[in-house]
Amino acid sequence: METSKNILLFLLILNSFTSNIFSKDVNSQNSYANRSLPNLETKNYKISVIGSGYVGLVAGAGLAYFGNSVVCADIDNSKVELLNQGEIPIYEPKLKELISEQIKLDRLKFTSQVEDAIRSSDIIFIAVGTPMDDTGRTDLSYIEAVAKAIGKNLNGYKIICTKSTVPVNTGQLIKDLISLESEDKFEFDVVSNPEFLKEGDAVNDFLNPDRVVLGVETEKAKEILNDIYRPLIERDIPFIYTSLNTAETIKYVANSFLATKISFINEVANFCEKVNADVLVVAKGIGLDKRIGQYFLNPGPGFGGSCFPKDTHSFLHKANQNGLNLQIVEAALKVNAQQRKHVFEKISNLLEGELEGKTIAILGLAFKAETDDIRESPAIYLIKEFLASKANIKAYDPMASNNMKHLYPDITYASSSADALSGADIAVILTEWKEFKELDLSKAASTMKNKVLFDARNILKVNELKDLGFKFANIGLAQVK
Ligand code: UDX
Repeated sequence: METSKNILLFLLILNSFTSNIFSKDVNSQNSYANRSLPNLETKNYKISVIGSGYVGLVAGAGLAYFGNSVVCADIDNSKVELLNQGEIPIYEPKLKELISEQIKLDRLKFTSQVEDAIRSSDIIFIAVGTPMDDTGRTDLSYIEAVAKAIGKNLNGYKIICTKSTVPVNTGQLIKDLISLESEDKFEFDVVSNPEFLKEGDAVNDFLNPDRVVLGVETEKAKEILNDIYRPLIERDIPFIYTSLNTAETIKYVANSFLATKISFINEVANFCEKVNADVLVVAKGIGLDKRIGQYFLNPGPGFGGSCFPKDTHSFLHKANQNGLNLQIVEAALKVNAQQRKHVFEKISNLLEGELEGKTIAILGLAFKAETDDIRESPAIYLIKEFLASKANIKAYDPMASNNMKHLYPDITYASSSADALSGADIAVILTEWKEFKELDLSKAASTMKNKVLFDARNILKVNELKDLGFKFANIGLAQVK
């Protein structure tokens, strides 16, 4: 009787909790303030998240938000110190607020004592990096080290849940390593729970996912994972329960499909340029067909970031190991590399092939807007080409300049868009930051040395550019008559 009363109470509280916090608008001003919090005492799992990068921090903070006691562990002491002071080492909208809130509620802690974190938790999420080597193979050394540490410190039944993107069969590898190191003294389950977060919108993606994939092979682990994700289950977010191998495969296929979609629209954009058609209208025209879908059809300078380039290569590599040649994924990568060259050629054409001595204002250094991440950013490739052509560069990004300084310390970094544009021979817009969309073009027209502009994200109004007398180009838009 007491139990059913508790369950009823729990559901009522959960209901008010979910209706308050899970509004789609996690960007609203007070999204992390003044909410009723869930009474999840009976479901308060001790969780550790190993690895405090993008995925680990968002997952750790999100799992704490769901009412669990979470310890995020990372071997990098300075990172842990920073996090304990409420600072975060990356720019990710809403993450700092969420982390601070969960620290205050005593549900989130950070430690560099990875072994203690393992020993004191019921569920361990692995969120360490899985970088790519020169051959496209995924380097699993961090995963292996964590699996061994878990095996050595296994002190009772635990669930080990992989959030890192890992090639198919890694779950089995983790199982084998834990078994070996723990000498099978304790029972454990390995689960694959791939993360589909987008940088720049990662908190929202964690709290409002399109779906949750669980590669879970025992009822016991499934029940516990369901408890942990109860707030999402209550909201009818689709859950896919499957095998480890299938869950691992889903992640690679999702990223490869999205990468293919981008390469496809970039090719279409190049066609549109040739025949004077408008790629954005074409994208809308096809995207309204539900079978195609309207998302991920924005042409641009080619995809970058920490996932698409790495995961497509890794998928190809795994397929090759299995005697398969994934021609479509291979083509998506080829088109992506070509798109960067195409962008360079278009900029070069605007400057009539004479780049030497010209001042190029680059607006946007991150691989996309709303992040400070420059990994595989098209800007890296273009800066290299511009420097090889002996052009001068004035670069600006609202968040990513410091990261780019490590790679290119000797180019000029501007303090604002206006500063970058002043005296420039050409403006090159590479990311879709809001402030670039709102660029004061008439001011730019008066401060630039030459009114020349390349818009690699199609964010500026072509009519306005034309009226102001700009010589300009973009990606796949019909020319303004
Ligand atoms: C991606 C996936 O979206 C995410 O689910 C996965 O977990 C990790 O990889 P992310 O790399 O953070 O996330 O960014 P995303 O917004 O997907 O963009 C990836 C790249 O594609 C960026 O370079 C972006 O500019 C480009 N892109 C995206 C386009 O060029 N056009 C589009 O229409 C969409």
